[in-house]
Amino acid sequence: MRSYRLIAPAKINLLLEIIGDRPDGFHELVMVMQSVDLADEIELKHLGSGDRILLHCTHPQVPLGETNLAYRAAKLMQECFPGHGGVEITIQKNIPIGAGLAGGSTDGAAVLVGLDLMWNLGLAQDELHTLAAKLGSDMPFCVSGGTALALGRGEELSPLPDLDRLYAVLAKYQTLSVSTPWAYQTYRQQFGATYANDPTAQEERRRTGPSVGLLGAISHHDAASIGQALHNDLEKVVLNHHPQVGLLREKLVEQSTLGAMMSGSGPTVFALAATREEAQQIAASIQAELPDPDLEVWVTKFIAHGIHLAESDH
Ligand code: C5P
Repeated sequence: MRSYRLIAPAKINLLLEIIGDRPDGFHELVMVMQSVDLADEIELKHLGSGDRILLHCTHPQVPLGETNLAYRAAKLMQECFPGHGGVEITIQKNIPIGAGLAGGSTDGAAVLVGLDLMWNLGLAQDELHTLAAKLGSDMPFCVSGGTALALGRGEELSPLPDLDRLYAVLAKYQTLSVSTPWAYQTYRQQFGATYANDPTAQEERRRTGPSVGLLGAISHHDAASIGQALHNDLEKVVLNHHPQVGLLREKLVEQSTLGAMMSGSGPTVFALAATREEAQQIAASIQAELPDPDLEVWVTKFIAHGIHLAESDH
């Protein structure tokens, strides 16, 4: 069995609206997700006939056991498709962790896609999505990527027109990370009274909420309107708790002609740009305005796909 190298892109949220509670304890969401070309690289190697899973990662803070989504993805695949042997997984981590960029989920998605190839299973996209949804709410999106509307827990996906001409400058304080469960729990404590909890009220919320403007702007490829329609409910809790991130967001809003926002549960903030030159200019200005060695900045391009084989593996 040959080894495989996969590219696992990060995502940003152009929209994250919290609608209400779900019977399973999660939140009912409306999200618009976008893949960007900041990516981890995952190598998978066959490891004998047992069911051993060996995990290595270039980032010292990434856990290597059962809590790692790449490990859990390999274990789930062994349970669902037994007899294919062990696997050695090496993650070259380029996506920051605890960042709101789905770094852990995209690694897990890469393991699902990679083992499907390595074991010659021929799984359909829907089957990969179903497996991915068992491991994390945003993992199905990471499998197929691009631009998509995500409803329910985040696992009900509808593809949207590609926006792969746009750029995003990502900025994150290296030593700052946010726990996603903390962000959602804090939001529930503060805003739970405003939740729509029955199906009719939830549908009404979806029909009249901020996604309407954004979906229209995306279908018209109207970058200025996309920038104006960015929306993330979790900003209300994360920016309050981390004023440093609020300030970073303010500076990016000033620098970007299109708009800026926090991604997911943060603390990464992104600014949209129409060209690479504009993105590079925003990146340089933000580093000059906030000269802090802890601040990391990336110029990224929107891409129209999720997990894919590395060039040399085609
Ligand atoms: O599904 P995932 O494990 O990525 O979610 C991480 C956490 O985020 C959950 O444990 C939950 O606290 C919160 N969450 C939520 N509603 C969602 C998705 C995530 O409350 N739809």
